[in-house]
Amino acid sequence: VAKMCAAAAAVGSVEAASENAAVVAAMKSDLAAVPKAAADPNRPVYHFHPPANWNNDPNGTVWYKGWHHLFYQHNPYGAAWGNMHWGHARSRDLVNWEHLPIALWPSKEKGEDHVFSGAAIEGPDGRPWVFYTSIGNRSPEQWLAVPEDDDLMVWKKHPANPILTLKIHGGTQVNEWRDPFLFREGGKTYMVCGGNLRQSGGRGAVQLYEAASPDLTAWKYRGPVFEYRDREVYNIECPNLFRLGGKWVLLISPHKPCEYFVGDLDLAGGKFIPETHGVLDAGHSYASNISFDGTGRCILWLWGQTDTNPDLGWNGAMTMPRILSIGGDGYLRQTPAAEFQTLRGEATSIPAIALHNQFISLSDRIAGDCLEFDAEFAADSASSLGLRVRRGADGKAGLDIAFSPTSGTLSAGTAHTSVSLDKTIRLRGFLDKRLVEVYANDGEAAIFTTTDGGTDNIGVEAFAAGGSARLVSMKCWALKPASFSMDRFR
Ligand code: FRU
Repeated sequence: VAKMCAAAAAVGSVEAASENAAVVAAMKSDLAAVPKAAADPNRPVYHFHPPANWNNDPNGTVWYKGWHHLFYQHNPYGAAWGNMHWGHARSRDLVNWEHLPIALWPSKEKGEDHVFSGAAIEGPDGRPWVFYTSIGNRSPEQWLAVPEDDDLMVWKKHPANPILTLKIHGGTQVNEWRDPFLFREGGKTYMVCGGNLRQSGGRGAVQLYEAASPDLTAWKYRGPVFEYRDREVYNIECPNLFRLGGKWVLLISPHKPCEYFVGDLDLAGGKFIPETHGVLDAGHSYASNISFDGTGRCILWLWGQTDTNPDLGWNGAMTMPRILSIGGDGYLRQTPAAEFQTLRGEATSIPAIALHNQFISLSDRIAGDCLEFDAEFAADSASSLGLRVRRGADGKAGLDIAFSPTSGTLSAGTAHTSVSLDKTIRLRGFLDKRLVEVYANDGEAAIFTTTDGGTDNIGVEAFAAGGSARLVSMKCWALKPASFSMDRFR
């Protein structure tokens, strides 16, 4: 018996050593790519981004012991999608970050090839535990990982894995089953997962499960809590279902811009009842996650897709963390975290300007590729008005942030969404090198997008097309870079 125990311990330590080798290699690869990524003058400086290489979805977002923890889908071996690990960083203020060691990596010795997206929930030990989708040469499974320290730096995959397999659905066939998200209500713990019911004649759907043991290793299937009925949405990724301001909110990633529903949740019947419905961000963001901080703010996290050339050593960012609330009309509102004001330089105020079917340069007062602006426009006869940013001195076009008072459309570049039909609009915008983020009115619409202007494309113009409009007031700030410490990325 003693011999067997010694042998088992030896196997265990070999496993641990090979696991350790996997993360050491991954971090070495990231560190090797840092100089290349840092050399790109168009890389964002205050939007969250990994040390180097690829990122997609925000994962396991949680506020714990005074820190905002952000985990994210990460390929340490290149600036394109692949080899999914969970990168990790933490911040006290949502603006300045400390990169931490890669938190989760595929356990090849357990047949795991990718650690896909997932979410955190308080575990029985009071620490955040995470569920994620384990991908291997088999059907997807939902796995549990548990931290061993309060800094959430050291993780152990739970010995009871897989926690949920496709078998849990009995006769119901769920395809593309992934992206667990968790919430607690009435003393019970619930999980939702994305996927679709196409094999059973259905569509993109969100599945609901209820924990059947306090240690979160036993679960029962409650059925589809939501099925997309309005249109043909073939699959749903990264569902988030949570309570906000007395209502329930469902966020979904349906392989096109994220959508939201505000409504109620009938937990006895296991059904979400939508009341209002909108697009979360009409631009190039995807795969939402949320967290609640110590003051009760609901923070929205989104992958900012940058489509960067992988040769540049990086690809991807996060949108600015946004505070979510529900407006008096029952639709969502989102505003960038106020903490970003700490990056502002001195304010420049632009006096009112009348615009008659023309572009007027503001570049003698404001110019740059790291700017924040807050502008109010009033439309008269104009069919479109707004700001052209990242304009080149050589007349290169730049990117238009435009509002159409006739159609109630907000656009940034090619992305567009609807806003209230009104004669006035407030436009808030954030330029961060290649990234552009725009908010309309009190956060009723948001767009994250990118632009390919070179480093000398820094001009700003106000415009009105198809008639007259007025720039009523405008404030602008140069923004400083946020800090991204690498001291603990080792
Ligand atoms: C969304 C997504 C998730 C999946 C992850 C893999 O962008 O496709 O459904 O878990 O990315 O990286």
